[in-house]
Amino acid sequence: MSEFKNYDCLFRLDGKIALITGGSRGLGLHAATAFLLAGAEKVIITARKREGEQGIDQAVERLNKLPVAGKAVGIAANVAQTDDIQRLVDEIKKSEGRIDILVANAGATWGGPFEPTPDWSSQKVLDLNVRGIFNLVRLAVPLLTAGATREDPSRVIIVSSTAGINVPHIGDNGTIMYSVSKAAAHHLSRNLAMELGPRNITCNTVAPGFFPSKLANGLIELLGGDQQLRDDNPRKRLGEPEDIAGVMVYLASAAGSYINGEDISVDGGAHLSAGRLAKI
Ligand SMILES: NC(=O)c1ccc[n+]([C@@H]2O[C@H](COP(=O)([O-])OP(=O)(O)OC[C@H]3O[C@@H](n4cnc5c(N)ncnc54)[C@H](OP(=O)(O)O)[C@@H]3O)[C@@H](O)[C@H]2O)c1
Repeated sequence: MSEFKNYDCLFRLDGKIALITGGSRGLGLHAATAFLLAGAEKVIITARKREGEQGIDQAVERLNKLPVAGKAVGIAANVAQTDDIQRLVDEIKKSEGRIDILVANAGATWGGPFEPTPDWSSQKVLDLNVRGIFNLVRLAVPLLTAGATREDPSRVIIVSSTAGINVPHIGDNGTIMYSVSKAAAHHLSRNLAMELGPRNITCNTVAPGFFPSKLANGLIELLGGDQQLRDDNPRKRLGEPEDIAGVMVYLASAAGSYINGEDISVDGGAHLSAGRLAKI
């Protein structure tokens, strides 16, 4: 028999403080919910909008109805802007003094034909999906090192996309700069894993395929609707909230503490198949 230390806690997050960008809806909200259910002490979600049915406040209210001891709080910030990132980090420094888990999830996309692409769209996508993550992690290092140890490192999890490892959409619905930004996010994560590993911070990439969300729903429709995308997927379905919960809790918990610099695609294997994409 093998002797495991704390096997019962392998997938638990008791006592942990997490920051999740883009936590007000979609994949970020799935991660926030999973962290609280796994025992996290506090989950801080950030997004730009505080009010409304897609805003931070409604998400915090829903998260705080979970039957758990941990709490959710929200801080409005634009994580594409360095001043706002600094303000967010300063606020957390004052209130918590540390971050154990940082999920860089907020992302933007833009789609359309190649030649008329407005320059602002490329800037928006690169500023949030690449430069913003670089600056957020850079400025959060003091908070990430505060509670980190060799046995229990702090975690950075970058939410990229399988669009970062293939060429998903060209032509009328082309997403070239999004795909480029996500390829950069994958490689940023590997660089951060090397830079920060010796400081007891791991960095890994989660690359989702299609999950219904505000960001993805328009493209899902343009590509023929969710039944079509299900038919094209080797697992015959789209992503579900539990798929994000599983990979996030794995990477954030003791179970994932020796994983560093890895990319995990969460897409049912769709990125390996030429399938429908070859016909575009
Ligand atoms: N859903 C998919 O199929 C899919 C597939 C592959 C990859 N992804 C990636 O997964 C991540 C989450 O996507 P999602 O589908 O969950 O999108 P979503 O439902 O549209 O949620 C995006 C979140 O990011 C926030 N956000 C957007 N711009 C921001 C900014 N500048 N600063 C701070 N927060 C910002 C949004 O809130 P505010 O608008 O209030 O700021 C919202 O909370 C993205 O990185 C995306 O590229 C998604």
